[in-house]
Amino acid sequence: MKKIVYLIAAVSLMVSCQQQTVETEQDRFVSELMSRMTLEEKIGQLNLITPGGGIPTGSVVSTGVEEKVKAGKVGGIFGIYGPEKVRQAQTLAVEESRLGIPMLFGSDIIHGYKTTFPIPLGLSGSWDLELIEETARMAAKEATADGIFWNFSPMVDIARDPRWGRVAEGAGEDAYLGSQVAKAMVRGYQGDDLGSSTTMMATVKHMALYGASEAGRDYNTVDMSRQRMFNDYLPPYKAAVDAGVGCVMSSFNDVDGIPATGNKWLLTDLLRSQWGFDGFVVSDYTSVNEMIAHGLGDLQAVSALSLKAGLDMDMVGEGFLTTLEKSLEEGKISEEDINTACRRVLEAKYKLGLFEDPYRYNDITRPVKDILTEENRALARKAAAHSFVLLKNEKEVLPLEKTGTIALVGPLANSKNNMLGTWAPTGNPQLSIAVLEGIKNAAGKGVRILHAKGANISDDPEFAKKINVFGPRIEIDERSPETLLKEALAISARADVIVAVVGEASEMSGESSSRTNLLLPESQKRLVRELAKTGKPLVLVTMSGRPLALVEENELATAMLQTWHPGIEAGNAIADVLFGAYNPSGKLTMTFPRNVGQVPIYYSHRATGRPQEGDEFTKFKSNYLDVSNTPLFPFGYGLSYTDFEYKNLSLSVDVLTAAEVLDVSVELTNTGDYDGEEVVQLYVRDLVASVTRPVKELKGFKKVWLKKGETKTIRFKLTADELAFYNFNLERVAESGEFQVFVGADSNAALQQVFTFVE
Ligand code: BGC
Repeated sequence: MKKIVYLIAAVSLMVSCQQQTVETEQDRFVSELMSRMTLEEKIGQLNLITPGGGIPTGSVVSTGVEEKVKAGKVGGIFGIYGPEKVRQAQTLAVEESRLGIPMLFGSDIIHGYKTTFPIPLGLSGSWDLELIEETARMAAKEATADGIFWNFSPMVDIARDPRWGRVAEGAGEDAYLGSQVAKAMVRGYQGDDLGSSTTMMATVKHMALYGASEAGRDYNTVDMSRQRMFNDYLPPYKAAVDAGVGCVMSSFNDVDGIPATGNKWLLTDLLRSQWGFDGFVVSDYTSVNEMIAHGLGDLQAVSALSLKAGLDMDMVGEGFLTTLEKSLEEGKISEEDINTACRRVLEAKYKLGLFEDPYRYNDITRPVKDILTEENRALARKAAAHSFVLLKNEKEVLPLEKTGTIALVGPLANSKNNMLGTWAPTGNPQLSIAVLEGIKNAAGKGVRILHAKGANISDDPEFAKKINVFGPRIEIDERSPETLLKEALAISARADVIVAVVGEASEMSGESSSRTNLLLPESQKRLVRELAKTGKPLVLVTMSGRPLALVEENELATAMLQTWHPGIEAGNAIADVLFGAYNPSGKLTMTFPRNVGQVPIYYSHRATGRPQEGDEFTKFKSNYLDVSNTPLFPFGYGLSYTDFEYKNLSLSVDVLTAAEVLDVSVELTNTGDYDGEEVVQLYVRDLVASVTRPVKELKGFKKVWLKKGETKTIRFKLTADELAFYNFNLERVAESGEFQVFVGADSNAALQQVFTFVE
């Protein structure tokens, strides 16, 4: 079998060597500044602190902040908001420290700043890269108006285990889609010019493999083959680097037995030498210190290890600040190691324009002009509506008519506190639109809306306590569960249709929110069962930060709309879709399992030697005794109010050579009764290779809008690059042989053609 070996590593190495030989204005500036810095001041630049204004995600927050800033012992701060407050803090550094070096001001702006967009997993379900980029750009505009210009986003960890709560923060299970989303977000945050006062520096996180924590338990160990790393988990980080991301955050987990934060292979050999990254690397929250618990030594040892591995900035733990000098004296690190890290941090400050004007993000007139404007909220509404996935729509119960009586029930039907979702520390839940309010706004006079809570999110006070750490999310009603249920059934009896809003509270997913059970809490399952017994059309609006196992609900409901946690415009966006002002077009970016025992479950699994044929259990095949291999809803799945028909998949050639481009085309017709959008997906299977290959891999997608009755020809291009993968020796190769191409509406795409690739 012939191979094409891609010389990416060598090329990027050449580029970075060339870069080093040309001295730029930035190099001269930084060198001159560093020549005046003491060792202590250089180490100070490597220190990132938080006074605890945001969400402290570990047990530690920084103390003595003012004194440290004045002493030149702080390179950056996160958790301070507002142009005046940031200016005040910046003044301490600029006016009162010896060299007046400005600080970086950062934050976690994961899905919008004050205008909260849907959680990233939801947003990725729009498959709309322009829209995703636009939300990131708007987040940057709002954040910079409030003094923040360094963002700890995008989170691009591939996640295939919905037990892990942080699946909510990323773009799902797929390397190809995840890479496109990573690039779009970096472009959105950084724009073309990091020095502009409306763009901010992005941080791709968490490098690397954090999404593969064993058993879906947060902060747990990770272990995987290099082939899987390179093919499935690393591409989105690399895509962000290729898009010019300014910063990389190291992850909590170990990679091949060495915690990422102290892993030289990861942070230097791969990230810098192979990928050509030239920004700086920041640790995760106390992840340097946590290497003590990992068993890698004391604080001095793990700090030295991290610096030597290629970590430049230490978040909160102050291991660098308190031990690097000693390590230098003892010869455990070199002055060069410190200089390298310090230079990278100063370069970022230079690129951000801080040396020209350290107060460039402190314009007090901007917040009113730029934050939470009508335009921003309109984008949040659009983004939310585009992120919803229609899972089921029997008897075309949706869109709802604007007549008759709707019973709106469920613990999330009138719950502002749960609309924003996880990791929205800068958003204010009270500014969000609850579903009840949104439906009232849209329904008009012809519709009667009756509302009852029907159930608590959970009846368990101990569970509620764990969820309510950032404010009330699960509020257990004073009325008994029976009373709540009775009320819901009473109004349902008077209604033509029941809309039940059920699911997870926002903090049931996100950081440190792993679950071993993917069901709706029992209180809500019971509500759904009882509502179904009424025999009325039952529309479930489900909210969650992860795929849930909704087998029973899928049987009982007439329709299901998955809305994630939709953000500040939740209620309006949900009403837009329920009443048909927007025809849903979202598609799942994570597989929805039938039960937790199927997990990890993802569409691009490798071929086994004993694949199941059909859906029935067969002895001595790779299947389960008690449940089918298939998921409840596959990756890429999502319905529309209209129907789309795929026809005439054709390939431009039967035999493709390395220098050629294969044109793939398909005819798509909107055969239903509504105008609508469809995400056309292209998958490839490598039929014979030197290693086991996935049964299908996404290699292209297009979101297209078709009027009812309209037909369009959708075209894709495939080249050797899309066919390439990392082989046993970790060379990126495209191997000669047969390939199958599938095009369709989800990862079960049935239309297929075969071609042969030859070098
Ligand atoms: C999280 C990061 C986050 C950091 C700072 C950590 O606990 O893992 O994603 O950026 O805290 O808030």
